[in-house]
Amino acid sequence: MDALVSLCKRRGFLFQSSEIYGGVQGFWDYGPLGVELKRNLKDAWWQDMISGHNELTAPAGAPSPFEMVGLDCTILMHPQVWKCSGHYDLFHDYMVDCRESKKRYRHDQVRGRYVEYQDQKVFVTTLAEIEHEVDEIRRRALKFFKLRAKNADDITIGDESITLDKLDSHDDVLGPDAKSVGTLTEPREFNLMFKTTLGALGGADDTTFLRPETAQGIFVNFKNVLDSSRVRVPFGIGQVGKSFRNEITPRNFTFRSREFEQMEIEFFCHPDQSQEWYRYWRDRRMAWYTEMGLSGESLIMREHEQSELAHYSVGTADIEYAFPFLPEGEYGELEGIAHRGDFDLRSHMEGKLDPATNPMTVQLGEDGKPKYRGSGKDLTYRDDITNEKYVPHVIEPSAGADRGALAFLCEAYTEDEAPDEKGKLQTRTVMKLHPRLAPIKAAVFPLVKKDGMPEIAQEIYAGLKQHFNVFYDAKGAVGRRYRRQDEAGTPYCITVDGDSLTDKTVTIRDRDSLEQTRIKIDDVVDEIRSRILQ
Ligand code: GAP
Repeated sequence: MDALVSLCKRRGFLFQSSEIYGGVQGFWDYGPLGVELKRNLKDAWWQDMISGHNELTAPAGAPSPFEMVGLDCTILMHPQVWKCSGHYDLFHDYMVDCRESKKRYRHDQVRGRYVEYQDQKVFVTTLAEIEHEVDEIRRRALKFFKLRAKNADDITIGDESITLDKLDSHDDVLGPDAKSVGTLTEPREFNLMFKTTLGALGGADDTTFLRPETAQGIFVNFKNVLDSSRVRVPFGIGQVGKSFRNEITPRNFTFRSREFEQMEIEFFCHPDQSQEWYRYWRDRRMAWYTEMGLSGESLIMREHEQSELAHYSVGTADIEYAFPFLPEGEYGELEGIAHRGDFDLRSHMEGKLDPATNPMTVQLGEDGKPKYRGSGKDLTYRDDITNEKYVPHVIEPSAGADRGALAFLCEAYTEDEAPDEKGKLQTRTVMKLHPRLAPIKAAVFPLVKKDGMPEIAQEIYAGLKQHFNVFYDAKGAVGRRYRRQDEAGTPYCITVDGDSLTDKTVTIRDRDSLEQTRIKIDDVVDEIRSRILQ
């Protein structure tokens, strides 16, 4: 992970936000290569899920043909949206405060191990990355027990790394920034929405929130889309955009950020067909990640246990990836596919429903009136063929663009060996990104800066640039130029050499197989296109 983080900074994939002022936790900027990668990921998702979807035939595994449309909603919305959606009351994590350091941590994010010295047993915590966890716990434990490094063998560190939420008490816990034990409070709820104020007056009614998910913008526009685009159920609405969560312990590079992008679909279907559609979307989304290059062993689908589901839900599955910063055998969520029943549409219509009721009824306040009033707008659907009127059920495949980009970066990072100009094997770092995701699709090199080679290479570059993001490089030894492109994840390098001057051909080198083939200069654009799309 350290090697990847350093490559991301060195080559301009990711920078810490406001770095020159010391950075701000949980916010990340995408550099020149990173912005292309994330844009390619979002474009691939949009193309495969929305704009490239053929509504005339049923894709493999789908119960029937269906339509897909897109939407782009605002980040700030009417405060009532968040009251009816449940985020105002329920969107929280548990946090603990440290009475000594005055710091605050997410209860399920603080890890630690039991450490024993003589007859004392202390649970020593740390926020260090997993690969440094044991070293950091040893260092803290030695300090706590007032021992020196040479006495490291006198303490016993437990084999199991445990998160704080698995402990019954905090009495023996040494907090991540504390010097004494027992300084952490009991866990308390902490709402994750960022508050902001609309207008200049700033009264209580002017308080709203930066959206913590893009999904609600889709639900509140359900009727607008239905009336304006004449879609028929089953259909899906997709949206890509920023979401904000005031994460208590943002960590693990971009995995848990405070500002991030989501790629969400709300798929509306007949209640009787919702189970089939749930299975379809779950399998389709899993297949998408595999097609884009995440390998079998690192990617799993975890179905939630029946006991974890709301009673109105048929199922929820998480697509998870074995991020290298997680302990062996642990996976982090990339995307959740949830069956949401009719909870959202009914809540925005009738008033926030109480998810604990069955069948669900509007949650009432102390005065016996709806706790959070809905819009009162009719969000039911009338089938114009059967004349049946119902509230559609929703299947929600909800993905994170930043988590996706991070997983693809982790998967792509490879150290292997490749021959240099003299044929000697050298270690190389190569980002084996899928060509659709690669920031730069091809690099064009003149072998040397003379004999008319740069002119030919520049012409090829100009022709390619009209279609793809390509890069021209004439500086330094060609082997070094290949290495730079390998690190950037560029799948193809085109080199103009002596033969190009006479037979109008160039070599095209494949980043992964290192195979070099000769193709006609006239075919370069078509060749790159067919290789990217294969
Ligand atoms: N509308 C449903 C929803 O938002 P979620 O599981 O909370 O569900 C969906 O979020 C996806 O958004 C996650 O699977 C993850 O990829 C991404 N995501 C959520 N919180 C994130 C964070 N703090 N940083 C980066 N990505 C995040």
